[in-house]
Amino acid sequence: MNRKEFGRRRRHLIEMIGAGGVAIVPAAQLKKRNRDVEYPYRQDSDFYYLTGFNEPEAVAVLIPGRDQAEYVLFCRDRDPEREAWDGARAGPEGAIASFGAEDAFPIDDIDDILPGLLETCERVFYTMGSHPEFDQRLIEWVRKLREGGGSGTHSPHEFVTLDHYLHDMRLFKSRSEAAAMRKAARIGVKAHERAMRSCRPGKWEYEMQAELDYEFALHGATASYQPIVGSGANACTLHYVENRARMQDGDLLLVDAGCEYDYYASDITRTYPVNGRFSDAQRAIYDIVLEASEAAIEKVHPGCHWNEPHDAAVEVITRGLRALGLLKGGVKTLIKKEAYKQFFMHRTGHWLGMDVHDVGDYKVDGEWRLLEPGMVMTVEPGIYISANQKDVPKKWRGIGIRIEDDVLVTRTGNEVLSAGLARTATEVEALVGSA
Ligand code: GLY
Ligand code: MN
Ligand code: MN
Repeated sequence: MNRKEFGRRRRHLIEMIGAGGVAIVPAAQLKKRNRDVEYPYRQDSDFYYLTGFNEPEAVAVLIPGRDQAEYVLFCRDRDPEREAWDGARAGPEGAIASFGAEDAFPIDDIDDILPGLLETCERVFYTMGSHPEFDQRLIEWVRKLREGGGSGTHSPHEFVTLDHYLHDMRLFKSRSEAAAMRKAARIGVKAHERAMRSCRPGKWEYEMQAELDYEFALHGATASYQPIVGSGANACTLHYVENRARMQDGDLLLVDAGCEYDYYASDITRTYPVNGRFSDAQRAIYDIVLEASEAAIEKVHPGCHWNEPHDAAVEVITRGLRALGLLKGGVKTLIKKEAYKQFFMHRTGHWLGMDVHDVGDYKVDGEWRLLEPGMVMTVEPGIYISANQKDVPKKWRGIGIRIEDDVLVTRTGNEVLSAGLARTATEVEALVGSA
């Protein structure tokens, strides 16, 4: 992402907060995996969105209207000895020279400096609950300010949730954000193609995951979430991430995998027959899910509200299951009673961006939000018939199918970022096992 983009975001937030406000955003902490091994570090999305700074132990502070500096960054000091082990640090000098900070201080000095910055402000914009340790420190700084406040000293009297402002900004993707998401989707598409081509009975689910991870890594991307690779009835476990079963001839395989590229995620699902040919029963369910996906994507354009794609998918799935005899009764009543939920138990999508389940409100003033250009969402209808569902004919049991694509709302309609990946049953059959 271009450095200027981070500056634009900060300026936008500074304008919204206005004089008298101060926004405080802490970096993500390193997390221990086991003993002295840490998880790969991933910066907090809010923090990165505003700073482009990918080190831990940092705090960004925006103070609209402050003369000396409106953007102050606290970060780790340079330390040649530590850097020899853990890699380079920007240090406060680097924060100013390379990251647009107008002033920067060592993080170890924050207790001495931050209260002074708060002192002049009326309102603190901060997201409580995401960084419990930092919450405590911030409360303590404000408490001390109030306690020490004789006449003439000042302390903020109001806490405002920063999410409302920041997350609404993040919901609307700029041109360069859309470009990053297009790239993340394109890499995701290539990864799915590689996996599909390599698929054959007898392979293990984790071997399929290896194909996905390999393609992500080839492009400098990483998985944006734990890939779901579920064959046979495992496809009906919505968050199946064990990925340790052997794929059998006659099974379907559900692969839900996306990558993160330059901090933006893709989230893509395809379901295909392990042996390259859908059975009649599998194909019948597949075609319903595909039709639901098409109907939902048609409802992704400006002026539609958030729930219209879901409503469209629900209608197609209910009609389809009824036509196959899996639901009985009138379509209207079945929808009203949410009878489809035993087979389609999740929603048709979610916002997508720096986080896979991205930020942004789905309702405004109690009403479904209208879709607007720049929003990105997934469209992911599915049908899952448990292997233990004794009240449905045997041929349907254990079938789990989802088709998931990433869709950008444009001025005139939408752009399917994951377009190009095999979607119809025929396209899928042509690709599976072709390597
Ligand atoms: N991969 C998570 C989801 O589809 O929402
Ligand atoms: Mn997914
Ligand atoms: Mn999803």
